[in-house]
Amino acid sequence: MRFQPLHPLFAAEVHGIDLRDPLSPGQVTDIDAAMAEYAVLLFRDQDINADQQATFTKNFGPIDKGLNLASSARPRLGNPDIIDLANIDSEGKVYDAAHIRNVSLLANQLWHSDSSFKDPPAKYSILYAVDVPVEGGETEFADQRAAYDALPDALKDELGGMVGEHWAFHSRNHLGGGGYSEEGMAKLPPVHWPLVHTIPESGRRSLFLGVHVREIRGMPTAPARVLLIDLIEQATQREFVYRHFWRNGDAVMWDNRCTLHRGRRYDLKARREIRRCTTEVQGAVQA
Ligand code: OGA
Ligand code: MN
Repeated sequence: MRFQPLHPLFAAEVHGIDLRDPLSPGQVTDIDAAMAEYAVLLFRDQDINADQQATFTKNFGPIDKGLNLASSARPRLGNPDIIDLANIDSEGKVYDAAHIRNVSLLANQLWHSDSSFKDPPAKYSILYAVDVPVEGGETEFADQRAAYDALPDALKDELGGMVGEHWAFHSRNHLGGGGYSEEGMAKLPPVHWPLVHTIPESGRRSLFLGVHVREIRGMPTAPARVLLIDLIEQATQREFVYRHFWRNGDAVMWDNRCTLHRGRRYDLKARREIRRCTTEVQGAVQA
């Protein structure tokens, strides 16, 4: 495998691997090491089905079900480990813009870290592009280690010890409600994570923010939300962002512990078929 940097701070393209093939232990170690360094890896020209994507992902930890925990919909792709993020129904038709599914798909256009709202949260996500629009719908990633490093010392001190409350439905409610049942929502109660944590594999400190954070422990709501908005703004300045322009057959893998990501707008009438498979963090989150 060869790693070719895509950005001055993070993100690299990986050459010399076919994601359909089983990985050797050495390859798993090399990918983990590259993730510790780059946090985002791009694998181009891949041809994988849902099962192959899940098999590849399982090399890196137990599967994270994310928001699927709160819904009882049958998986369109037949594999419960895959999070179907296509804007098409079981008959292959693009959802109407007003379709309730678009609330969750559009929530992905707000800066977030996958499954930060559950315990354990997500570690790696692997997103695969089957059929993407020619224009729009890029995905942006922001390096939260570099963003942390660049904060003024006084702000770093202020953030030390602060704990964020993450709730899965905060972003959905913000966009008008995602149609989740009370019973489903009860399966994902809010969780609490430090706003700054350390990534064990690299020893680097990182911000841990995103649209799922709705409160800061011990702080009134208004100043907490203003601080959270301000931090996201600082942490997603252009110098920290790699923007990925998708081609069909791209697989992008990212570390949710130390990056934020968001999709960019696209024509909701255009077909966009993408699939995600995600692993859970194993072991405690370190402050
Ligand atoms: C995701 C996600 C953004 C996009 O797959 O987790 O947030 O561009 N995707 O669709
Ligand atoms: Mn996401």
